[in-house]
Amino acid sequence: MPCSAPCIPIRSYLRSKLSRNARPSVGKPIVTRLMQSGTISIAFLFSGIFIAMSVGSLAQIPATHADGIADNNLDIRVESILRQMTLEEKVGQLVQYSAGQPTGPGTGRSDYGDMIAHGQISSLFNVIDPHEINQYQKIAMEKSRLHIPILFGLDVIHGFKTEFPIPLGLASTWDRSTVEMASRVAATEAAADGIRWTFSPMVDIARDARWGRMAEGAGEDPFLGSAMAVAYVKGYQGSRLGAPDSIAACAKHYVGYGAAEAGRDYNSTEISEHTLRQFYMPPFRAAVEAGTASLMSAFNSLNGVPSSANPFTLKQVLRKEWGFRGLVVSDWNAVGELIPHGIANDGATAARKAFLAGVDMDMVSSLYHDNLQQIVSSGQATPAELDDAVRHVLRVKLALGLFEHPYVDEAAPAKALDPQSVALAQTAAERSFVLLKNANGPDGKALLPLSSAVQNIAVIGPLANNSWAPGGAPQGQGPRVSLPAALAQRLGTNHVTQFKGVGILDGADNEIAAAVAGAQRADVVVLTLGESPEMSGEAASRAHLGLPGRQQELLEAIVRTGKPVILILFSGRPLTVPWAFERVPAVIAAWQPGTGGGPALARVLFGDVNPSGKLVVSWPRTVGQEPLYYNHLDTGRPAVNIDLTRPPADIASKYVSRYIDEQNGPQFPFGYGGSYTSFSYGTTTISTQRLSAAVLNKGLGSGSDGAAAMVAEADVTNTGSRPGDEVVQLYIQLTGTSVAEPVRMLKGFQTVSIAPGETKKVRFDLKPEAFAIWNIRNEFAAEPAKINIWISPDSAHGSPAQAEILP
Ligand code: NOJ
Repeated sequence: MPCSAPCIPIRSYLRSKLSRNARPSVGKPIVTRLMQSGTISIAFLFSGIFIAMSVGSLAQIPATHADGIADNNLDIRVESILRQMTLEEKVGQLVQYSAGQPTGPGTGRSDYGDMIAHGQISSLFNVIDPHEINQYQKIAMEKSRLHIPILFGLDVIHGFKTEFPIPLGLASTWDRSTVEMASRVAATEAAADGIRWTFSPMVDIARDARWGRMAEGAGEDPFLGSAMAVAYVKGYQGSRLGAPDSIAACAKHYVGYGAAEAGRDYNSTEISEHTLRQFYMPPFRAAVEAGTASLMSAFNSLNGVPSSANPFTLKQVLRKEWGFRGLVVSDWNAVGELIPHGIANDGATAARKAFLAGVDMDMVSSLYHDNLQQIVSSGQATPAELDDAVRHVLRVKLALGLFEHPYVDEAAPAKALDPQSVALAQTAAERSFVLLKNANGPDGKALLPLSSAVQNIAVIGPLANNSWAPGGAPQGQGPRVSLPAALAQRLGTNHVTQFKGVGILDGADNEIAAAVAGAQRADVVVLTLGESPEMSGEAASRAHLGLPGRQQELLEAIVRTGKPVILILFSGRPLTVPWAFERVPAVIAAWQPGTGGGPALARVLFGDVNPSGKLVVSWPRTVGQEPLYYNHLDTGRPAVNIDLTRPPADIASKYVSRYIDEQNGPQFPFGYGGSYTSFSYGTTTISTQRLSAAVLNKGLGSGSDGAAAMVAEADVTNTGSRPGDEVVQLYIQLTGTSVAEPVRMLKGFQTVSIAPGETKKVRFDLKPEAFAIWNIRNEFAAEPAKINIWISPDSAHGSPAQAEILP
């Protein structure tokens, strides 16, 4: 996902891009050319410490043992470097190019070797070959005057070599530690290849399934999104940013990018300050508080001011209010795109506006390189402003320990994937699946898990065996067992048949007929349908959310055989398949599950694993409902106690906020997910019915040490016959406030493992923050209100406890 390519780990992403786009000019990489012409020595030793210490005075400034981007101890070294820099070198630290497979249209230039030697480049990305990385780095360390190392970045989105589920799937685990461990593995693998900066996590709130980049994030909720943002940052950056296996995180895309009008990528956004602060900013703030080294400014225009030239979001909020000391990089050519946005008529103006707004580093456009010196020397920006931007970049490089360890050890033997990482990828996949439906099979019992009487399975559909789906041809990145292969390992190869049926976008009658015949010979059909990875992620908005191509036709033909069907949906977003939800007994949302997908699915189908994933986005019935999100405001005419399954029949059922031809509610609500067991929820009880706004306000900001303002509890009982994990959720609603608040807001969640027949009391300690809102003055404070509090299995069920906030 290039940010672009959510759904596939970077290497497969790049490969898929290559197959879709014209191959870029394949001249030899610049470094190779320099080497051949003798400009640099081929036989260099890249003992990082040795070279860094011997070639430059900068590295001799003693390193602190400080950690983290905000550490004051970095200041001395930053200032010492800054004092030695010329104007040109300072601007150079604000310039970044893609030097590998592009993940966007056109790049600024290609003479990177020369530019690095002149101190004109700070960072390169999309270079994934350790040898090439070292070659570029060698130029920086040996040829540039100040020997400031290059920072190498990449979109490491859901794994580098070991491929984890896409972020939407990872978030569906609702499990911080799985996400943190997965990003730790990604960091370790990427750092081992010389990549010390990932453009991840994407923490954009996504309320519209048309927007393909929903795949790359944690869904529609700011509380869950913040928890996931923290988990990613911790995983990437580890306990010490300067450790060799840590990489700098980059929370993106700041801000509001997910609110693209009509779900069309790159489209404009109109978001009130209140909504920005309440929904879109919290995951970024959480990432900043977790220590993210960088943020990426977004493409979108935000209330008419592009996010990459927006002083309110970048300076006022990010720097002044949140105290962020790390680096802001623009998105790909976002500085250049200020021209088509219409706020600049030339490159110099675009550069000036982005820079003055607070974009430190220019990704790819080359406009900083071309104009920033002149902008500063003509007084349009001050030297102090330039220094500040450079400080942000140097902090990251210093915190990462790049000055001491600029090189990657390319002599390290190429390692096979760590079996523990592969196991983690499989567990993550198992936990990411959301059981959407599990009705009875022919024996009158729930179809899943499959009974041991099932002898023969037909796996049908275009997604069972693709190289990027849950199995199939390996990407050269370790073991990968396809779903059919994983099923065959259990049942024996003679008992598993496979039919493509249709392609993702096309199909032939004879293949459908073959699949139908195959289904007829099987006991059970596992139907694998959905989207290819290219159909979600960047630049992959869809106006239709159903099954593409002839897949619906295949689905109906297979269901007509009368065989029990389990539908596995692979996608980067919810798909509107109401026909399937009505007619197919069992449906699993498997997202794009990564390396462990095949075995993980087989284990879930046979009940070795009881599914526990829950939706992090509201699943629409039809695209016409989008944007659809559970934490919406009520209207002045809510459709209460009205049968929305029928067209309006009278005044009372007509003049309410509704559709005349569809229900308002989702197919499946946010937070929903089934299990092979069942859970019942007891009453939500609370420790107090009265809170004081004054007391709450005093307690704001005391962090995790602060006292709970209220304890809420509920008994959750496993009423079925299997052990199960349940993601228990806590929601609140405030009414009577100065600004209307959503019908529900998630304020807590935890996963509990419960044995059959067992009851567990689940307790939430609610801090004052849970009751504060962005009020009518856009200040975060508690105010008098009535409160509903639910502990529930999802965002649409449960009966609330009631309390109030007095002045
Ligand atoms: C554009 C995408 O929006 C962003 O997420 C990504 O990091 C950059 N391209 C670099 O690939």
